[in-house]
Amino acid sequence: PTETATAGPLAGRTVLITSGPTREALDPVRYLTNHSSGKMGHALAEAARDAGARVVLVSGPSRLSAPAGVEAVAVESARDMHREVMARVGEMDLFIGAAAVADYRPEQSAGRKIKKSDSDTALRLVPNPDILREVAALGEGRPFTVGFAAETDDLARHARDKLDRKRLDMIAANWVGADRGFHADDNALEVYWPGDGHASLARADKPALARQLIQLIAEHYHARSR
Ligand code: CTP
Ligand code: CA
Repeated sequence: PTETATAGPLAGRTVLITSGPTREALDPVRYLTNHSSGKMGHALAEAARDAGARVVLVSGPSRLSAPAGVEAVAVESARDMHREVMARVGEMDLFIGAAAVADYRPEQSAGRKIKKSDSDTALRLVPNPDILREVAALGEGRPFTVGFAAETDDLARHARDKLDRKRLDMIAANWVGADRGFHADDNALEVYWPGDGHASLARADKPALARQLIQLIAEHYHARSR
């Protein structure tokens, strides 16, 4: 069931959010993945819902269940996520890519379990579709597009570079490593937008941070559509 509130900065708008990690199969029992917990994406879905939006949450494997009133689409691989996003994004006003999508997948996923005795130990990888880049490239009528960047170094430079390269409307960047980012319950965000725009959202728990980011996104979304 989906609910659309009548008040709030995103009342009557539709928001598509990706969340969690992706899982890239090597064979029926093994996969490649990353440390994403889905906490930020799920918190954003909740905050967007509370801002009045109709929310669709496309999530890779996560221990979290989708917030009430949010339409949940469960996926495994980056290609699954890509397919489910592209099938829905045409009718969306905003897109937020909070998932930690695997950039590469194994070239082949064996239909049967790989055995220890299989002597070829090389792992060949091929690139996955860049969902965020594709959504941002949709052209006229595309959703207001927000990306994330998780970086261990040179945060501002990498984030601005992603903003420009992927032609995003906004990017939210955070530091990762040791006790920061992925599994942590709190986080801090540096947010950038075209024209040298920048805001710092100070360390807070992820639900509070998500509410602030949704506020900022809503302001810029309305400024653009005016
Ligand atoms: N993303 C995506 N599809 C991909 C890869 C990333 O939608 N196949 C989105 C993520 O959801 C996130 C942003 O792109 O919003 C993160 O970009 P990132 O992976 O950091 O950018 P890359 O260009 O892959 O750079 P890096 O080398 O740092 O991984
Ligand atoms: Ca990446």
